[in-house]
Amino acid sequence: MPIDIINTLVVKGTDGIPGWPIIKRYGVPFVALSLLKVYCGGKLNPWERDVHGKVYILTGATAGVGSQLAEELAKGGAQLIFLVKDPSSSWTVEFVDDLRDRTGNPLVYAEQCDLADLHSVRKFATRWLDNTPPRRLDGIICCAGEALPPGAARSTSSDGVERQVAVNYLGHFHLLTLLSPSLRAQPADRDVRVVLTTCTTQAMGKVSLDDPLWLDSQYPSRRPWQVFGGAKLMLGCFAQEFQRRLDATPRGDKMPSKLRVNVVNPGFMRTASTARVLSFGSLWGLLLYLLLYPIWFTLFKTPIQGAQSYLAALFAQHFIDLPGGQFIQDCKIIKPARKELSDFTFQNKLYERTEKLIDQLERQSAKQRVRSKPKSTSKSKSSKKSDNKKVVPEKEHDVFASALKSTPPDLFPRQRADPAGNKYLDELEKKLAQQSKEHST
Ligand SMILES: NC(=O)c1ccc[n+]([C@@H]2O[C@H](COP(=O)([O-])OP(=O)(O)OC[C@H]3O[C@@H](n4cnc5c(N)ncnc54)[C@H](OP(=O)(O)O)[C@@H]3O)[C@@H](O)[C@H]2O)c1
Repeated sequence: MPIDIINTLVVKGTDGIPGWPIIKRYGVPFVALSLLKVYCGGKLNPWERDVHGKVYILTGATAGVGSQLAEELAKGGAQLIFLVKDPSSSWTVEFVDDLRDRTGNPLVYAEQCDLADLHSVRKFATRWLDNTPPRRLDGIICCAGEALPPGAARSTSSDGVERQVAVNYLGHFHLLTLLSPSLRAQPADRDVRVVLTTCTTQAMGKVSLDDPLWLDSQYPSRRPWQVFGGAKLMLGCFAQEFQRRLDATPRGDKMPSKLRVNVVNPGFMRTASTARVLSFGSLWGLLLYLLLYPIWFTLFKTPIQGAQSYLAALFAQHFIDLPGGQFIQDCKIIKPARKELSDFTFQNKLYERTEKLIDQLERQSAKQRVRSKPKSTSKSKSSKKSDNKKVVPEKEHDVFASALKSTPPDLFPRQRADPAGNKYLDELEKKLAQQSKEHST
């Protein structure tokens, strides 16, 4: 066929080619657009790694780029644990079954962990850490995200945190810091990788150390990308600070650590959340989105194209020889523009501030859980009190202590037994003991 065309071109000239006027008119723009589409599609991951038998925890694995990544890893024979809001929902059950059938890999599971609920994250981490010997873990891949369209009202998580910040930043911060004992407990020769997700909008993000969770700040509903981008920016700062803190804690066996925390920007993709944001969450907007689809088709990646940089972050050997906290886009390391991403003091302050806020929020939600318990419990309590003919006002620390008791009991023994464990719980328990001493005196 190409030889025929060349022959016709040589013998008869361009007029001999059928449809030449159309080719002449539209050929150049068509080729230019095709080249643009190939360019915007990004690079393919060139690295390979045997993931058979490796264990990965994934957030956001049931949709968009996360689902494509999950499929690639499942095909390779990895054991996957998806953290989802509701593992018993018919959608999730079907999704997991389908993936198992398609990939022939039965080792795909879904666990309950709502990233917009700190208590839910803690419950998952507790279940995970409650294993002796510690469970194998080769990586945590954080793809979950929440982006609200412009014009939408402020939405909050169950802890009262602005929703985009809660899912994109706070939930992942809590998950990874709680799971850090498990990450550190892996054998020294295991190449363990944590991959977080950022977005180009981090360049437009707003971050304030005074109110990083947008608890009090006015929500810019016309410019929600300031909040979303800010959450991604904070996640990038967290990745770097988290890596430094992991590096600063030497392994028990004094071996160098192969644990790396990196950040991936998958680029703009045609996924459900992109459609929701670009359609402003309205029917008219959706119609406009569909009309303009050729633009998105040309400029945006497919989810599998977006997944390539995650595969590079997981597979490429050179990340082990580099310090963590790298930013990866189109399968190569980039230097993001924001100054916060090279400001270690800011990152340290943000980390500490977030830790404090999580502590406060967990206390508040614990109190709320106790208050919202069925009244029969408080009735029986008050009847006991009236039996003693002495009315003792319910003190805050009582509320919090009993709320802690309502969390799975295995949390405390497991974490106490782990020397590299979460200092949060120890501090919390010390405070509670101190408070109850004060109360009894
Ligand atoms: N799409 C883009 O153009 C683009 C560009 C740059 C960066 N990113 C980032 O890339 C990641 C994936 O984006 P995507 O567009 O592929 O995602 P998506 O299709 O919107 O899927 C988001 C995933 O996150 C999960 N998720 C949301 N809230 C959650 C919560 N509270 N707890 C647990 N899981 C939750 C969702 O689960 P449910 O389905 O159960 O809600 C879903 O699996 C996100 O972090 C996003 O910010 C996307």
